[in-house]
Amino acid sequence: MEFSKGFKWGVSTSAYQIEGAALEDGKGLSIWDMKCRQPGLVFENQTGEITCDHYHRYKEDVKIMKDLGIQVYRMSISWPRVLPQGVGEINPKGVDFYNRLIDELLKHNIEPFITMFHWDYPQKLYEKGGWLNPDSSNWFAEYVRVLMDNYSDRVKNWITLNEPQAFVRWGHYELNDASGIKPAFSETLLAAHNVLLSHGKAVQTVRQYSKQDAIVGYAPVGDLYVPYDEDVATDVEAAKKETFSIKPLTVFNSIWWMDPIFNGNYPEEGRKLYGEDMPEYSDEDMKIISSPIDYLGLNMYSAKHVSQDKDGNVIEMPREPGHFYTHMDSPTEPKVLYWGSKWFYDRYKKPIIITENGMPNMDCVSADGCVHDPQRIEFLRRYLTSLKKACKEGVDVRGYFQWSFMDNFEWSHGFSKRFGLVYVDYTTRQRIIKDSGYWYKDVIRTNGKIL
Ligand code: NOJ
Repeated sequence: MEFSKGFKWGVSTSAYQIEGAALEDGKGLSIWDMKCRQPGLVFENQTGEITCDHYHRYKEDVKIMKDLGIQVYRMSISWPRVLPQGVGEINPKGVDFYNRLIDELLKHNIEPFITMFHWDYPQKLYEKGGWLNPDSSNWFAEYVRVLMDNYSDRVKNWITLNEPQAFVRWGHYELNDASGIKPAFSETLLAAHNVLLSHGKAVQTVRQYSKQDAIVGYAPVGDLYVPYDEDVATDVEAAKKETFSIKPLTVFNSIWWMDPIFNGNYPEEGRKLYGEDMPEYSDEDMKIISSPIDYLGLNMYSAKHVSQDKDGNVIEMPREPGHFYTHMDSPTEPKVLYWGSKWFYDRYKKPIIITENGMPNMDCVSADGCVHDPQRIEFLRRYLTSLKKACKEGVDVRGYFQWSFMDNFEWSHGFSKRFGLVYVDYTTRQRIIKDSGYWYKDVIRTNGKIL
């Protein structure tokens, strides 16, 4: 079997990165609205206030998706657009926007996969301590209930959290805010615990209140390693060991965020290593966190490649001179889609969906009015070929979401990095399908046969 018959081909985005209308129709402020007001925090002080203006142009965007043959669309909902204070009063205009968007997608036969939280945390809740507040998981559950009440009649696919590692690391541990106070590692682990608890309560809320049988997943990221030489057994062993390892003073460990969900507890190695920094938690917490989900989503972009020296130590290998790097200076590493999918599938026995993968490239409009991006085509060709190998070997991969449907606001990099299959001119908001967009259309049409 190559890509299975029902394999889902999609693209992904997130609310703050594409919507704009940051101050419109009753939307509350998010921490990203606030961050963007701090001089020097974002490249050239750019903001997501308008970005792709998807809020007003969603029909045009859905039409482009349709033209590209996109089957599934991973989007996120802005929590403060729906609940301006994070909890309490609902904003009907915000709710209505997503109703119209969902209907438009369904009209074009595109299935929405909705991420409930993709980093644009309500400012009002942040001021109450955010994920450090013991009530934070209840706030999240309240918001999820609003999503169920309003959208679950038409939406079946839900993703609780996007890259908890990233927002806990950059939102807490390496906090880059005006106070300049760096939280202790123990507080970071506590925030992480509350985030996992929020995930668990979200799953339970979906199961209880969805108006149809829902499919629920989760989209973590994390440090990944691949064998330097795939034909050398000790390299394979070293990379697998590193992928499943727990490192000191970091929340970027993959299994820290997966074992509790799939195995019902934190990895023992980590509990020992973190010792007194560990938060207090109950068996009941772990039960909630491990509420069954339907698949594991993986956001995978790059990986370190490792080998083993003669004493059995894992060593990171340098890249060959001239290696293919992205516009964010990260090394391309196609093998990661094969090994990552395979190892996490073996460990948790849950279907896999690649919830993000893609590359930032130096794209521009050529004299012919087109955007030629052969590097992105080559990137995707290599990565998807590697994913195909995992499928052929029996790894249960159900879908792939390219990041991103269109160029957008890349957080602290502003608009300087372009990940899209569709080019966005930020002056006119004109969209131009890039060569890679047309190429991806063919991949979808042939279910990956052209790879
Ligand atoms: C991680 C995040 O989920 C997404 O928001 C970001 O734009 C991409 N990956 C690329 O960095």
